This record gives sequence, structure tokens and C-alpha cells, in this order.
Amino acid sequence: MKFISELKRSHYCGEVTSALQNQDVVLMGWVNTRRDHGGLVFIDLRDRSGLVQIVVNPAQEGCQPAKDIRGEFVIGVQGKVRLRPEGMRNKNLKTGDIEVEVSRIEILSDARTLPFDPSDEKVSETLRLKYRYLDLRSPRLQSHLIKRHEVMMAVREGLHAKGFVEVETPILYKSTPEGARDYLVPSRVNPGTFYALPQSPQTLKQLLMIAGMDKYFQIARCFRDEDLRADRQPEFSQIDVEMSFVDRDDVMKVAEDLMRHVWKKMKGIEIGEVPVMSYTEAMNRFGCDKPDLRIAWELKDLTEKLRSSSFKVFSDAAGRGGAIKGLFVPGTGGYSRGQFDKLTEKAKQMGAKGLVYIKIDDKNQITSPVAKFFNETELRDIYGACGGSGSGTVFIVADDFSVACASLSTLRLHLAAELGAIDTSRDRFLWVVDFPLLEYAAEEKRWVACHHPFTAPKDENLAALTNRNEAEFSRLKAKAYDLVCNGHEIAGGSIRIHRGETQKAMFDALGLSEDEIKLKFGFFIEALTYGTPPHGGIAWGLDRLVMILCGTEAIREVIAFPKTAKATDLMAEAPSPVTREQMIELGLAFLKNRQN
Ligand code: AMO
Ligand code: AMP
Repeated sequence: MKFISELKRSHYCGEVTSALQNQDVVLMGWVNTRRDHGGLVFIDLRDRSGLVQIVVNPAQEGCQPAKDIRGEFVIGVQGKVRLRPEGMRNKNLKTGDIEVEVSRIEILSDARTLPFDPSDEKVSETLRLKYRYLDLRSPRLQSHLIKRHEVMMAVREGLHAKGFVEVETPILYKSTPEGARDYLVPSRVNPGTFYALPQSPQTLKQLLMIAGMDKYFQIARCFRDEDLRADRQPEFSQIDVEMSFVDRDDVMKVAEDLMRHVWKKMKGIEIGEVPVMSYTEAMNRFGCDKPDLRIAWELKDLTEKLRSSSFKVFSDAAGRGGAIKGLFVPGTGGYSRGQFDKLTEKAKQMGAKGLVYIKIDDKNQITSPVAKFFNETELRDIYGACGGSGSGTVFIVADDFSVACASLSTLRLHLAAELGAIDTSRDRFLWVVDFPLLEYAAEEKRWVACHHPFTAPKDENLAALTNRNEAEFSRLKAKAYDLVCNGHEIAGGSIRIHRGETQKAMFDALGLSEDEIKLKFGFFIEALTYGTPPHGGIAWGLDRLVMILCGTEAIREVIAFPKTAKATDLMAEAPSPVTREQMIELGLAFLKNRQN
């Protein structure tokens, strides 16, 4: 009998337990390890479900191939399940009580020595990505991919049960602005023209609402040419949702219910009440719009308290409309000068010009670089105003509101990780709402949409937009909401503009000319005029969601074939040059002396 054609696999390796004692099994998989022991060969056989120990005597008929077997060979075995002798059992392994006594073995494929040992943590990321398929053999990455699949199943199940219909939308399309650069695809049939890969299916899902689909979802691939970070990839997946005849709270309810369903399925956990916080409150209390609520510390505003201080850094910042913000961090009373210097560097990376600290050590001694500007009572008073008590440090940054927030928020995250002050016992969700509608991009000298240009202003702010009242723009609030989990923005959405005139006013506010509006969005504005239901939606970053559920900090850990920080695929070597003939066919030529 031959393996595969006649002898079929009876179990996965990880399923073979003492319940199968004395039964015959047929297993297939990779040789994880091989040990020779007094004429017997012990092999740990591996497949996606786990490991099982098999024992072969190569002298026995049907078992001769065992002597040629090496690591990562793919083999098939037939044998009997038997209990391991007492003392030889491995409690750390699901299959650790048994072993399989092999009666027949076949090499299905041999393997060269691998370019690296996947279990060696010192192997470089570059080598791992070049041989991604080998790295993917690790139980860790396999479990991440399986979890990702389970999340997708739970999402489809949860949304289907609520009457959402999954509709696929095109990848070869037109620019869908979400704030990044587009990936472009040249058209051969229409030389000189390009498709843009969707940054999200935003306009398409809105068109589906105009079409009357009512409740849409899609697990959609999105493409954004932007600077990559640990939680960003140039192509990623969204759980994209849109609904008609809804307001903000309806979308938030559906989104929250979906998270309840997913957390219940994946972790068996009930998510409690999800708090809602305005953008302004989040910035004031945590210095960022996606606060990690697992960290207890909060920022305090010292602007009024220190406005007329003799320390010019403080009084100047307050005087020119900036902010003075403080953060008390317990557990840092023993920090050295060198440690504070490092933290100052961190704050400077976020734009701060410096960092004031007020430290109180275990002996109640106070230290601060601004001791010459404040007497001890004043320093202790500031310390207390930041919530400081006992030993610890108060950190202060005086700058523009956004710089003060960004630098202290970064320190908050950094120090919480360093001091083990993140309560990882439960996941903390948060809705952030009432985002600004527009923000001024100083370099481009124009207004940009904080979420995207299809987001509706709050009702009370509509007139200022349609009247092009630019003096008011910075104060306008949007019907936008973000769902935050453990400090990650896992989803974002909004109620949309559903009137053509308002949409035009928005594009106008963003500095698009009549011609640009027509060229880029003419079809969309026209569509809005043929009967558009009020609608809104939301999209999750699927990868980020899975990261949280897998407890990993790197997006690459949950994507089968991820790209590097330079947006390349090291395995297939993409992107790669194309032939001259292909260029000619597409009507393309390279610019000489092209500057990067
Ligand atoms: P937004 O741009 O906020 O909204 O994206 C929604 C979610 O997608 C995830 N995300 C990313 N994940 C990985 N890599 C990236 N480069 C990346 N960029 C974004 C984030 C984010 O919360 N069309 C709107 C949604 C809507 O309004 O309905 C949109 O795309 O988790
Ligand atoms: P200096 O008087 O310039 O030596 O600064 C005294 C302290 O103030 C140093 O610890 C600086 O890091 C800090 N500092 C300088 N600028 C700022 C600022 N904008 N916000 C907070 N601290 C600052």
C-alpha cells in the first residue's frame, strides 16, 4: 500500500492522545527532530496541529527509510498508539503521554538543510522574510493565521446575522482619498491613463447605499502608499461596513455588538460597557486620540497655574497660546540623571524643546532642573497639582498644545511599558467622538479632512461649511467616531454627507477647484443627486484587530506575506523592474535624472 494514494491520513499529529491507545493511525507531516537511540529512531512529527513522538526501528521491514530521514523531510507513517513508559511522559505536550510505534514509513519528500533554524530568535527579520514560507512553519505564526481566519468567520457570521450583505468592490478603480498616496496601475488599453488601487472602498460603499443595498459589508483589501510603522502595511484588510437610514449611535451600536460577538467567540469574554469620550477630552486627559486606558496615569493642565511663572519657557509658551502639561509617573523616584536625559531625548523626538522633571525620591528629597526658578514649596505644589503623591516624578512640557500632548503621551506609553504599569488583565475599549472636521495643513497651505472628505459635519456646524466660513473651520466638529482598543485605533467611521451640495462645499473647503471636483468626483456628486438615503458606516483594520487578539505588537505577525518597512516583498522580490517591451506596451517611459 502506498501513502497518499492508498493509505490516507487518519489523524493530525496533535490529535493523537491516549484516547487512541492501541489503535492504528496514519500520520503525515514534517520531521521536527530526529534522535537515534540504541537502534531505535525517535522522531517528533509535526503538522499544523502540533507534534507527536514516533518510534521507528529501521531494521524492521517497511521501516528502512527511517535511517535516511533528516530534519524537515516530509514523511508518512503508519503505526500503533501506545502509552509512553512512566517517567518518559511529557506534560508540556498535548500528545506527551503517548508515542506511535511505527510499522511502515515512507519519505514523501526530502528537504535540504534550511537556511536558518526558525526557532532561533536571533535570526534576522530579513532572512525570515526572504524565506517566509519556512518561518510560517512555526507554531506561533500558524496559530496567528488560524486566529485571523476565525476572526473573519466570526465577523461574517455576526454581520450576516444582522442582515448585512457582503459585496465585492473593484481593486482596479479610481482614487479614493484617505490621506495617503495612491498606488497606480497603468492601463495598456488606454495609454496614458491609470487606475488607482482603492485606499478603502469608501465611495463604492456609499454608492451601494444609493443603490439601495441598505446594509453592506466587505472584508476588503486596501492599498495606501504611506510611511510604514509597526502597525501599518501598504496593503491591508478592512472589515468595511455601511448602513442606510442611521445616525451615529446606530452605527456605534452595530460596531460594538460585532466586537462583543468577536470577543465572545475568540476569548470567551464579555466586553463591558464601552465608554465614550470626546476627542477634546481624550487629548486633554491622555494627550492622544487613541488613549490606552490600561494605563492609569493622566495628563494635567498647568497652563493657568504656571502662566506667570518666572521660568520663561513656561510663561512664553502660555503667553503665545500654547499649553503647559504635566504627567505624574509613580515608581520613578529612583531614576538617575542619565535616565531623565534619555526621556528628554524621547520628548524631543516628538517635537518638544525640552523636558522639565520634578522628582521626589524615597527619602522625600526633591530634585528638578528648574529648582532655581521655583522654591521647594512651589515645586511640591506643582507635583501635587499633577496628582503626584509619595515618591515619583512629574514631567512637564510647555509648547504648542499638540507638541505638549504628543511628547507626554509618548512618555506615558514608554514609561508604562518600562515600569510594567500596563494592566494587561483585560482589553480596554473606548469610543472617541466629536473629532474636528477639518485641520489646517501648514505645509500645503490648505485645509484637509480629519477623517475623509465624505464625513458630515455636526448639524450645528453645517452652515459654517456650506457658507464657506473659513474663520470657523478649525472649530467645526464631525459626525466621526473611532473605536480604540488598548491604545490602537482599531476602527474609524462617520455619518456621511448625503447631499450633493454639501459634498461640493466640502471639496471646495479642501481647496479643490471646480474642474478638479468634476474630474475626480463628478460621478460621485452626480450620484448623490439621484435620491441618497442618509447613511454612515465604519471600517476596522482587520490586521490590527487580529494583532490585539493574538497579543502581538507587530502587524507582520498576523499577515501571511507581509511587506518590509520599505514596502518590498523580500521573498518574491517585488517590486521589480519590467521589460522595455512592457513599458512600451503601456506607453510608459522613465524620466531621466529622476530625483527621489
Ligand atoms: P480609516 O482610514 O480610519 O477609515 O481606516 C480604517 C481602519 O483601517 C486601519 N488602517 C490600517 N491598517 C493597517 N495598515 C494601514 N496602513 C492602515 N490604515 C488604516 C485602521 C483604521 O482604523 N473609509 C474609512 C472608514 C469609514 O469611514 O467607514 C477608512 O478607511 O485600523
Ligand atoms: P534650560 O534653562 O534651557 O537649561 O532648561 C531647563 C530645563 O527646562 C531643562 O530640563 C530643559 O529640558 C527644560 N525645557 C526647556 N524647554 C522646555 C519646554 N518647552 N518644555 C518643558 N521643558 C523644557
